[in-house]
Amino acid sequence: MTPQTPRHIAIVMDGNGRWATRRYMPRIAGHWQGVEALRRTVRACTDRGVSALTVFAFSSENWSRPQDEVSGLMKLLAETLTREVPGLDKNGVRIVFAGDRGGLSERVLQGLTRAEQTTASNTKLTLTVAFNYGGRWDMVNACRQLVSNGMSADQISEAALAAVSALAHVGDPDLIIRTGGEQRLSNFLLWHAAYAELFFTDRLWPEFDASDLDAAITAFAGRERRFGGVGVLANDRTSQGSEPVARAA
Ligand code: FPP
Repeated sequence: MTPQTPRHIAIVMDGNGRWATRRYMPRIAGHWQGVEALRRTVRACTDRGVSALTVFAFSSENWSRPQDEVSGLMKLLAETLTREVPGLDKNGVRIVFAGDRGGLSERVLQGLTRAEQTTASNTKLTLTVAFNYGGRWDMVNACRQLVSNGMSADQISEAALAAVSALAHVGDPDLIIRTGGEQRLSNFLLWHAAYAELFFTDRLWPEFDASDLDAAITAFAGRERRFGGVGVLANDRTSQGSEPVARAA
């Protein structure tokens, strides 16, 4: 890892449907191809010394897609976990899920719990899969936790909220990449994106490879991060809560 390498990269993996449609294939084929891009990206991140990768795999809003696409994505997650977890585990990848577990089927829940347990002690890369995740859900859920922990209004702080948020285990991303040409966050990591550098590319997610990751990292390295102040060193990763925080009891 060079000093300019982001510690934590987050990705909105967009463009799977268009990739498939342009090839006269069903949209779900694009999502399966997206798994290949994710595998390439995990390897490229570990090779480059990135220690955390967070990907948006299924949003709180994705339930409104056609029923066959939703069930196809659930099947894809369950089957991908069965197939990929042993290899990820062997390569030191820890898997963590972020999102609302309510509403997920028993099969999906079992798969994600097993993946988390199997890989819990790995330290090379933390792969956080945002699944049934929304940034607004995350903030509401964090507030609920603070209240149920008995916290009073004057005890609530940014650090307290971050500590019960879905990314407490990895902290804020330094760089957020969105593929597929749109330039918006779409309810991804609203709290944690506060000081992230944003990188948008027209590449569709199934096409994304190590050279695209390098282009994003190069752009990141050229940015001056000021965190609202002046004179902060470019890419000072210790600023503004970008480090993981301990979860509140
Ligand atoms: C957005 O593309 C992509 C998704 C909603 C799903 C992304 C999921 C994966 C890549 C699989 C990840 C798998 C695991 C196991 C974590 P889109 O359908 O919105 O594409 P479009 O904009 O071209 O329609």
